[in-house]
Amino acid sequence: MKPEILVLGSVWSQEVRARIGQAFQCHFLPAIPAAGDGALDAIAGDIRAVLTTGTVGVTPALVNSLPALEIVSVHGVGVDAVPLALLAGKGIHVTNTPDVLTDDVADFAVTLLLSAVRRVPQLDRYVRAGQWPAKGPLTQARSLKGKVAGIVGYGRIGQAVAQRLRGFGVEIRYFQRSAGPQPELRSDSLLALARESDMLVLCMPGGPDTERMIGLEVIEALGPEGTLVNIARGSVVDEAALVAALQDGRLGAAGLDVFEHEPQVPSALFALDHVVLTPHVGSFTVEARRAMGNLAVANLEAHFNGEPLPTPVK
Ligand code: 8YV
Repeated sequence: MKPEILVLGSVWSQEVRARIGQAFQCHFLPAIPAAGDGALDAIAGDIRAVLTTGTVGVTPALVNSLPALEIVSVHGVGVDAVPLALLAGKGIHVTNTPDVLTDDVADFAVTLLLSAVRRVPQLDRYVRAGQWPAKGPLTQARSLKGKVAGIVGYGRIGQAVAQRLRGFGVEIRYFQRSAGPQPELRSDSLLALARESDMLVLCMPGGPDTERMIGLEVIEALGPEGTLVNIARGSVVDEAALVAALQDGRLGAAGLDVFEHEPQVPSALFALDHVVLTPHVGSFTVEARRAMGNLAVANLEAHFNGEPLPTPVK
């Protein structure tokens, strides 16, 4: 008998579907069912694994409704949508997909930064609107060379962003609460980093430890000439403070891939020309998503074959 698994979310490629179809009896749901909706009533007792995305995750209520659950495999590096303490307490394994997405996410952080600083969407809109032949007014951008980028969260992705930005002649500083590599680049505090930086790139994990870490004081310290890039999680920023600061010029520009209540984006941002908005696509490449899918499934296969998990969350 194939192990029964619950597959949540709607990101699964044909390749992943074929592979999990071979090894498991799969039950697909686009999202976590609401309490009392009955979608899982007939199968809950048989589900031994959940395959889920980084943003859908699993809720405590779902975990508590699956008495045979052994493992949660997350398709993504972030595990902030998974109740880790509850799962650990029940002896349920959690795995994620680190490393295989690092380069593409770091590329995207730099893409957003360049787009915001060099005003790419504004220029695109200018050309499409026929402003070029009409010689419409155009605002000059700022150069990157010689500027300081503050990386918040100097882990795998943060360091990969730093490596790329050095190629643009950008000086790197960083902040994270724990000691990190290259201590000489670490600022004394997040506020100090924001004061020292022309741009902040948010690469820290989501979750309670980093919730609203980027508040009004940090945003104002980055200032009217500063650019904020967020490829981490919407939860790490005080979104209302960010929107207000962008509206009245206390913050210069922003490139935002993640939001507090995805897929909802504060509509006030739509009217702001100096903000670049993308729909949580840091890892959204054929290559990264294929590798993430394969690693997420490999973790499940290893578990049910009694082999060591390739990428357990510690
Ligand atoms: C995806 C992510 O959005 O890895 C993460 O933490 O946020 C993303 O790569 C998502 O997890 C895809 O399932």
